[in-house]
Amino acid sequence: MHVISCLDYAEMSRKTARIIAALVQLKPHCVLGLATGSTPVGTYKELIRYHLEEDLDFSNVTTVNLDEYYGLGPEHEQSYRCFMQRNLFDHINIPPENTHVPDGLTRDVARTCAEYDNLVASLGGTDIQLVGIGDNGHIAFNEPNTVFVANTHLVDLDEDTIKANARFFASEGDVPRQAITMGMRSIFSAKLILLLSSGPNKASAIARMIKGPIDPQLPASILQLHPNVVVIAVKEALALV
Ligand code: GLP
Repeated sequence: MHVISCLDYAEMSRKTARIIAALVQLKPHCVLGLATGSTPVGTYKELIRYHLEEDLDFSNVTTVNLDEYYGLGPEHEQSYRCFMQRNLFDHINIPPENTHVPDGLTRDVARTCAEYDNLVASLGGTDIQLVGIGDNGHIAFNEPNTVFVANTHLVDLDEDTIKANARFFASEGDVPRQAITMGMRSIFSAKLILLLSSGPNKASAIARMIKGPIDPQLPASILQLHPNVVVIAVKEALALV
């Protein structure tokens, strides 16, 4: 894993957006794997700036998002579809039909999950996959477990995750208890994985991801097996590395 240490959140966001913008310029039909959470918001702001001020063209880009809360539809302001519209898609020239987020309202979970993996495979995998990391070491919504799960699947969220994400909802009781998440196969289809992290609360998970054993109790540790991972992190998040 290659590690880029940044002084602050703004530098992390600029450096990440620069890599993505370069890809979009070099390969207009690229496939971007996108993530939610507070960490990539600054990167999305920079990409919007590239579009508005430097004519970066997203008209041929396709995106696939990592995950979605189960039970939340696109109109729910805390759904990840709504997050992506608000923080990126509504501000760039990407055709709506080119953007993909798992359907949180599906009545046929098995089919939705299988179709999502088929979609990623049919696109030839992602060119760049952005990922954040949970305090507990999760990537997307792959929670600590006894095994790494390969396929897109429905997952019960950890108590830690529900608590961490409660800040976005009126109360902890409003946080969905389940989510649909990409599994490791689709995440690993990426030619390049950019893992972003900021904040001292991530330091332990980042250190275990980089230096620790590959262990499904720390799901991000499986990234040690991917040939092309770049960690772009604010120095506080690298404090234990
Ligand atoms: C959620 C998302 C993850 C994200 C994590 C960290 O649980 N499913 O993809 O990495 O939050 O969020 P934040 O960036 O806000 O710390």
